[in-house]
Amino acid sequence: MRFRAFVVSSPFVLLMPVLAAQTPTAPAGNVQNGKELYARYSCYACHGYDGHGGAGARLVPMQMTVERFTAYVHNPRQMPPYTEKILSDAQLADLFAYIKSLPVSPAAKDIPLLARIIGERP
Ligand code: HEC
Repeated sequence: MRFRAFVVSSPFVLLMPVLAAQTPTAPAGNVQNGKELYARYSCYACHGYDGHGGAGARLVPMQMTVERFTAYVHNPRQMPPYTEKILSDAQLADLFAYIKSLPVSPAAKDIPLLARIIGERP
């Protein structure tokens, strides 16, 4: 179980310094803690482990400010609310930092196979 968790999480752990270097404007928030909260509070269940959506909205790339994100998660439109008693503003800053660290998917034109298919379209 411990080993499995390590294997599953290790690509993220290895990528973290790279991702952090790519997002110099990321807010002060603990990415590792955010990652744990993302799993513990089931964000992944509706938004996917990669944040690219599922039953819930796509979270990557994250366009919100940390303030809007925090206000939203405390008081959302449709998804279950996570009030201040459940997730503090500091915990949401960590979640925000983690979501910001998730890799954005490349554009279709940058994926060779998809670029070829797009090029072949009549
Ligand atoms: C039961 C499913 C579910 C869970 C669990 C869930 N969400 Fe959502 N989330 C949704 C749905 C559905 C939407 C889109 C509808 C809406 O606006 O409420 C959404 C929207 C959002 C948005 C707004 C995205 C946008 O661009 O408007 C954010 C941010 C978000 N969720 C963050 C989170 C975080 C962080 C967690 C974990 C703490 C979480 N969600 C857990 C279902 C879920």
